[in-house]
Amino acid sequence: MESTSRIIVALDFDSRRAAEEVVDRLGDECRFYKVGLELLAAAGPDFIKHLVAEGHEVFLDLKLFEIPNSVAGAVRVAGALGASMVTVHSMGGTDIMAAAVAAARDFPRLRVLALTVVTSMTGSDLADLGVNASTEEQVLRLARLADGAGCHGVIASPQEAARLRGVLGSSSLIVTPGVTLPGESPSEHARPGTPRAAVAAGASHIVVGRTVTRAEDPVAAVRLVRADLGL
Ligand code: C5P
Repeated sequence: MESTSRIIVALDFDSRRAAEEVVDRLGDECRFYKVGLELLAAAGPDFIKHLVAEGHEVFLDLKLFEIPNSVAGAVRVAGALGASMVTVHSMGGTDIMAAAVAAARDFPRLRVLALTVVTSMTGSDLADLGVNASTEEQVLRLARLADGAGCHGVIASPQEAARLRGVLGSSSLIVTPGVTLPGESPSEHARPGTPRAAVAAGASHIVVGRTVTRAEDPVAAVRLVRADLGL
């Protein structure tokens, strides 16, 4: 894998102008961007097309949790926009994940990733939902379900990557947000890890947001991420 393609920078902004400013500053330093609901709602789908046309890969983080027909429709739109990754909630169950995977078949570059347990959640948050499992048990259970539904990979915290790699085998994608540089405050991430630790544990890709996008010098910050990875 091209080294720059392992690092996905999350463009969590509320305007196209702010996102473009970071993309322009990063230039060739970053190839892969994550666009979530905030920026999609603010900037519209044309911005995804624009990023793809400029040679970037786009992870469209839609976190789909809907009836299978609606999930399939949204995945087809993500594919038509040129996205490389799209997310579906594994908590929605096998049917919606299978519908997403089936819809993605028309778009050979599109990978369907299942969200397991968001990195801000702890065991007590799960208990509040009536889930009597540790976050790790729940992540592994949902990852098996996603794998069985044909998903190309999962989203999980760096701390679960090693167990997941064991469960999913070598070809699945494991994409880890909740990544911070050594010594950096983990903000609201409950289960953080450094880029190096995430990849050493088996992550195929890491998602880095504010560490890069809110840095005074985003280029220097992304280089620090790469250096931590030994790239
Ligand atoms: O914290 P950071 O700015 O690096 O967040 C980057 C991405 O990681 C966000 O777009 C979000 O989807 C994901 N994230 C997460 N759990 C958190 C915080 C962020 O999954 N607690």
